[in-house]
Amino acid sequence: MFKDKHILLGVTGGIAAYKAVELLRLLKKAGANVNVIVTKSALKFVGKTTFEVLSENPVLSDLYFDTQSLVKHIDLATWADAAVIAPATANTIAKLAHGIADDALSTTLLAVTAPVMICPSMNTDMYQNIRVQRNLDILETDGWHIIDPDSGVLACKAVGAGRLPDPWFILDRLEAILTRKDLKGKKILVSAGPTVEPIDPVRFVSNHSSGKMGYAIARAAEKRGGTVTLVSGPVNLDAPVGIERIDVETCEQMASQMLSNLDQADIIIKVAAVADYKPIDPKTSKIKKKDNNNKDLCISMTENPDILKLIGEKKTKDQFVVGFAAETDDLEKNALLKIKKKNLDMIAANLVGSSDSGFKADTNKVKLFFRDGSLFDIPLMEKEKVANILIDQVIKKMG
Ligand code: CTP
Repeated sequence: MFKDKHILLGVTGGIAAYKAVELLRLLKKAGANVNVIVTKSALKFVGKTTFEVLSENPVLSDLYFDTQSLVKHIDLATWADAAVIAPATANTIAKLAHGIADDALSTTLLAVTAPVMICPSMNTDMYQNIRVQRNLDILETDGWHIIDPDSGVLACKAVGAGRLPDPWFILDRLEAILTRKDLKGKKILVSAGPTVEPIDPVRFVSNHSSGKMGYAIARAAEKRGGTVTLVSGPVNLDAPVGIERIDVETCEQMASQMLSNLDQADIIIKVAAVADYKPIDPKTSKIKKKDNNNKDLCISMTENPDILKLIGEKKTKDQFVVGFAAETDDLEKNALLKIKKKNLDMIAANLVGSSDSGFKADTNKVKLFFRDGSLFDIPLMEKEKVANILIDQVIKKMG
């Protein structure tokens, strides 16, 4: 997303200015070309050299002394694909809200027509002050994006809202702003992760699913403007930003959540690795070794409901249903059989067993099979990219 994008990073004078350094590093790592504009007070917190070295560009702090160009503020404003002000102080927010242009940053921002993201950071009382809130409302109404500050212990020792969010979060939201909103107005229901079927209160039957592929799809769909509900089995991943996550454990719980959210969904993507079988009779207290007289332990299992098949039976002609198939043999034959058996529009199939694709990897390699017999090959790449290509194909097929 950020490769060769032109990002203007505005830094104002708050203690959180040090986090702007990390944000700059993340932007550069993601491939962005960054120009930094600092206010005079920002330079009291972080030196210009730091921003210059990391951005590999001159840093603008004074319109009259800094530059060879007489219209540097216009050059930068025209150059920018997006601008992010992090941290944004109450003073700069007030100036921007009222069109005051009395330093390099506020003057440049008056000429920016690209999307602008403001990340306020200050003491809680200042942040909640009616004037600051009014100014933020003005900027939001004018179409700029405001990122709410985090709550916690502030530099002034007060506890409350006012902390600059983590740089990765700001980067994530900037990516969302820059993403084309081709899923706007669409509701997407995604399932991810494994299901866990109890044997007794301390043991269970499950599988190796990490949830990474399903979470990547949910995140990509949200950034593309979709309203996403993610039904997730137990995974070690943070809840994605801007998404309703419903946590479940068993196949029965996943089935119930998927089916109760089904009617509202336009696109259903069933990535979860559901346990096909569950213990018939899960014990309410821990099975002790001595209960078994040192003999082999047999656990009788019964079949779980096939959630995707139930969804396929209920789906309307306007809904688009995608399944996933992890296979060890006969990929194409099994994938096509599952499309038919479960009444799917598309199935994303991959061969498991390789370390660079499948359950725990950060990369994946899948073949998309469609109901009409067509095929689309996604070679090995990061799951984030696979997710976006898969969504491109869904949108294309849905017309
Ligand atoms: N699936 C499901 N409910 C189940 C089993 C699978 O919803 N009880 C869904 C998965 O989420 C996936 C698709 O069906 O989208 C295919 O899952 P997979 O495990 O590959 O296929 P199965 O139907 O379980 O068949 P088999 O295990 O025999 O390959």
